[in-house]
Amino acid sequence: MTINLLNAFARGLLWWVFATGSFSVTGTATTSVSPLYSELIDDGHVKGDYTKPLPYSYIRPSDLPETFDWANVLTKERNGDDKGRSYLTRLLNQHIPQYCGSCWAHAAISTLQDRIKIFRQGAGEEINLSIQYILNCGRSAGSCHGGSIVKTYQFIKEESGFIPFETCQPYLACSYDSNEGFCPHVDTSCTPFNACRTCDTFEENGGTCREIDIMPNATVAEYGVYDRDDFEHLEDFIHAVKAEIFARGPIGAVLNGHGLANYTGGIYDDPTQPTNHTHAVSISGWGKNAQSGKEYWIVRNSWGAYWGEMGFFRIRMGTNILGIEEKCAWATPGRFTTMNYPCDEDGGNCGPVTKTYLDPSEDITIVMKRLRRYQEGRSVIS
Ligand SMILES: *[C@@H]1O[C@H](CO)[C@@H](O)[C@H](O)[C@H]1NC(C)=O
Ligand SMILES: *[C@@H]1O[C@H](CO)[C@@H](O)[C@H](O)[C@H]1NC(C)=O
Ligand SMILES: *[C@@H]1O[C@H](CO)[C@@H](O)[C@H](O)[C@H]1NC(C)=O
Ligand SMILES: *[C@@H]1O[C@H](CO)[C@@H](O)[C@H](O)[C@H]1NC(C)=O
Repeated sequence: MTINLLNAFARGLLWWVFATGSFSVTGTATTSVSPLYSELIDDGHVKGDYTKPLPYSYIRPSDLPETFDWANVLTKERNGDDKGRSYLTRLLNQHIPQYCGSCWAHAAISTLQDRIKIFRQGAGEEINLSIQYILNCGRSAGSCHGGSIVKTYQFIKEESGFIPFETCQPYLACSYDSNEGFCPHVDTSCTPFNACRTCDTFEENGGTCREIDIMPNATVAEYGVYDRDDFEHLEDFIHAVKAEIFARGPIGAVLNGHGLANYTGGIYDDPTQPTNHTHAVSISGWGKNAQSGKEYWIVRNSWGAYWGEMGFFRIRMGTNILGIEEKCAWATPGRFTTMNYPCDEDGGNCGPVTKTYLDPSEDITIVMKRLRRYQEGRSVIS
């Protein structure tokens, strides 16, 4: 499907024809843990599970803006002015309360949350999803010793069916195979109690903790992978990634994390560093250096805000630095809880109300309108 579509593209035909591919391929995971790099990134052969058109099938390369960043999107304010706004959810740190190689879960969940926020046009309380739930229940996706972005989406859609909000189960940085810090004392088994729970008062006052069975949660509608190997040219892959980011939101990416350890800002551009994949991040946009004309990706890491450029880094585009231009994974949200049925403090009596996500690929006139407005320098979201 991908290749045919690209051929059509190359001939300058049919750019408006939507690709509808449906993949549901699962590979075998060979997850061995590298002694040096504890965040082994392994996608097996998972290609995705989707039917909606991929944004690169309806957005031409020439239509895409030179720069775009979900951290700064022109938005119409109530008073009619256009103002830059961030549609990214909060920056995370995977390594506290103790070291944990869960970059893959952070990248996967941050982008899923971002896409909910984008769909809601930033309205309402930002929705944070439980990464600890993935560590407790999503063993097929990974652990503190590495994992996979796309398998996280596969786990949520195919295995679990949902992911709880973070207030059900905060991040503890522990998994079944971690003995770091306080992890030996943490029960990370996949039980209802470890999906969502609360406690009603101090134990000495007779308090107990109980599981919550109906919890605020979100689902995955579709997910997929852009693989460099499926595209004829690197530029085609880059176009697909940019179109995905512009139309639907940030995307998960993998790279070699080694060279980033001492990054302190600027456009990372070291071609001597290895390109094998040891780390996962999310790309939120791209830019172009006015002097050098060099294009770069704007990428969110999960090492806290004190690292890099407030937790982000920029990396040169177009030469596969650190192996970042080889494989990206995306997911669209399905339903997410917007109004809970109020629970009692002790967690009794619960049940929620949902909203359903509308994939921009289902109504591309909205994306086209945004693209036009962007080109005209007007607010993109109004
Ligand atoms: C999610 O995190 C953001 C940023 O810390 C916070 O403002 C928001 O209240 C959180 N949302 C929920 C539902 O806890
Ligand atoms: C997820 O939320 C929906 C409503 O938003 C609810 O109907 C469903 O029961 C919830 N799932 C779980 C496992 O709590
Ligand atoms: C980062 O800097 C430290 C010294 O501060 C050095 O020991 C280490 O090797 C450097 N890491 C990389 C990847 O260059
Ligand atoms: C991956 O790259 C690291 C350097 O970042 C290297 O030490 C390691 O041997 C490589 N692993 C594989 C499996 O190639």
